[in-house]
Amino acid sequence: MPYNNVLSEELDGILLITINRPTKLNALNTETIEELSAAFSEAEEDKDIKVIILTGSGEKAFVAGADISEFAHFSEEKGKMLAADGQELLFNLIENLNTPVIAAVNGFALGGGLELAMSCHFRIASENAKMGLPEVSLGVIPGYGGTQRLPQLVGKGRAMEMIMTAGMINAEQALAYGLVNHVTPLEELIPFCEGIAKKIMRNSSVAIGAAIMAINANYKKGVNGFQVEIDQFGKCFGTDDFKEGTSAFLEKRKAEFPGR
Ligand code: COA
Repeated sequence: MPYNNVLSEELDGILLITINRPTKLNALNTETIEELSAAFSEAEEDKDIKVIILTGSGEKAFVAGADISEFAHFSEEKGKMLAADGQELLFNLIENLNTPVIAAVNGFALGGGLELAMSCHFRIASENAKMGLPEVSLGVIPGYGGTQRLPQLVGKGRAMEMIMTAGMINAEQALAYGLVNHVTPLEELIPFCEGIAKKIMRNSSVAIGAAIMAINANYKKGVNGFQVEIDQFGKCFGTDDFKEGTSAFLEKRKAEFPGR
């Protein structure tokens, strides 16, 4: 399906989703959030897609934030709805997808842009990337999960400092913080992500979906992650992927997972 602000391109099981508003540094307006939501939902339904890479168009920005021009005049009630709708429609959707999502952070990832990258399962940054949650400099706080996911990833003290100062950190600092897993030159960013995607794709997609669910359970209030792990572990035993994976090991051959 064609979108105005989102490009998607599939190659050999890897879907590259590109946020495409380069003249606005890929800022997230409502239309872009809706289109991304649709693109991710569509990808989750497509069993041929094994890994999704999310990036921004151009060489300057992943996403420079929520579109400030769109919400500058909002009331309290509309502000609350903006955060609630966005979280449900896109950020929580991505975090809970069965299909692995890698954020390829190719420049500024600020505000909603960093929140978007943080809702992905993990992040790779290019050397020019700059990350921050500058919302308090606008008189507001992060509203797309940033106050929750940043401390999960970098620890409470660093999150407090980043949010209070509204400052930016560079790729090396983000790597030291554990906010991104690797840093590459800009031109190698997508090939590097594709290399990781190919490693992921050798494994059982069903087991990977179960692992994502169990890992995420650790961060959900009122959910016992150990119990989710036990349940998902048990479920794996009923899958064709488990039969294939264990048989292939015992027969000393490479597994060909059916993805069921
Ligand atoms: N919302 C809306 N428009 C945005 C935007 C945002 N978050 N971030 C950038 N843009 C727009 C600019 O308004 C400008 O549009 P224009 O050319 O029509 O005036 C265009 O993108 C280019 O940005 P510009 O500021 O000229 O680029 P720069 O290289 O001088 O600065 C940034 C880059 C990222 C430092 C700067 O754009 C910025 O601070 N953006 C806002 C970051 C932010 O606070 N995000 C959190 C939002 S909650």
